[in-house]
Amino acid sequence: MHHFEYRGGELYAEDVPVRELAERHGTPLYVYSAATLRRHFEAFDSAFEGLDRLTCYSVKANSNLGVLRLLGAMGAGMDIVSGGELHRALKAGIPAERIVYSGVGKRPEEIEQALEAGILMFNVESVGELERIGRIASRLGRTADISLRINPDVDPKTHPYISTGMKKNKFGLDMGTAMATYLRARDLPGVNPVGIDCHIGSQLTTLEPFLEALDKLLDFWRALGAEGIAIKYLDLGGGLGITYDAEEPPHPREFGRALAERLRGLPLKLILEPGRVIAGNAGILVSRVLYTKDTPSKHFLIADAAMNDLIRPSLYGSYHKIIPVLEQERPRRAVDVVGPICESGDFLARDRELPEVEQDELLAVLSAGAYGFTMSSNYNSRPRAAELIVDGAEVIVARRRETCADLTALED
Ligand code: LLP
Repeated sequence: MHHFEYRGGELYAEDVPVRELAERHGTPLYVYSAATLRRHFEAFDSAFEGLDRLTCYSVKANSNLGVLRLLGAMGAGMDIVSGGELHRALKAGIPAERIVYSGVGKRPEEIEQALEAGILMFNVESVGELERIGRIASRLGRTADISLRINPDVDPKTHPYISTGMKKNKFGLDMGTAMATYLRARDLPGVNPVGIDCHIGSQLTTLEPFLEALDKLLDFWRALGAEGIAIKYLDLGGGLGITYDAEEPPHPREFGRALAERLRGLPLKLILEPGRVIAGNAGILVSRVLYTKDTPSKHFLIADAAMNDLIRPSLYGSYHKIIPVLEQERPRRAVDVVGPICESGDFLARDRELPEVEQDELLAVLSAGAYGFTMSSNYNSRPRAAELIVDGAEVIVARRRETCADLTALED
């Protein structure tokens, strides 16, 4: 599943001891495994073999240029949600015709940049956005290929903050509005409806919600056909979950099989936007324990990584496995792993049974490759962590550690 494992009593990232990485590059430190990224992309993409398809990696999961370049070299397209992500994808050499642009609030200048670049299509989320894209494209003498993001009203049974395809969510258009909007798009200058899109949520651990959404989209596609609207692309978004703890998400192969049953023979190109399933288990966050501290009710490990480095536990109550970098037989005890930030919500784990850990020891927070660094911030004026990509025995500094000078550079 990933290339972080103990060898001879200590944790390795591929062929490199994590301890050495921490000593040379400092902590907190994100470490990504190139072999794991490649393996995950290959396993995902090949699961849809036989179907006309484009796998557009979701840049928001991990947008490091080194990661984007590695995936781009394997033929990945990209799913972007901002002008900044467009900039990253183009800079990483991703051909524009492999880029889809999702997101509920695209700014006029971002729309213009994407049109100038010549992206594959815009996943449009409101009537106002459709009209704005039409106006900008007409002004530029272009036609924007678009799809509408349908909100299929399916419960993905995941955390409420990352459920996106239910009636109450801000995303997409309900089916009724979507039909009226396709008819409007058909007659609107500057836009050309070529796709149909949905994304129902993230960290899904069963296939049923995907299939329910797909069936609704296919019915809708047939209804569009009856209106003479010819659709080429069916974009089913991202969302396939991973194992953080004991979850047992379906393997991409099962996902592929289930989709193929429904799509084989249909004149549609499938687009998928996986993020977490590619990057999540391909990264760890390495942190040093600054202090240990006992209070009447708790034993704390005060780590040098905090909620500004990895916000998922604080924001969603997410579980990330934490292991000592040094593998040793030792007694276990319940601890809270917390960071230096001045908030009680600053924790990486709560009431967690861990092997007894000493001051100055290194910990690895697992499954941190997706929505880790990309959601990090400078809160408490903490320079952001460095990011490394390990490829076999080679170590690439994919992002240098920020300095205090970086923190104030835009204010001087
Ligand atoms: N496509 C669209 C339109 C999306 O909004 C997302 C994720 C994806 C694809 C990729 O989904 P994935 O395959 O990674 O599940 N920060 C949260 C996750 C937010 C997901 C937002 N959208 C977390 O840390 O769990």
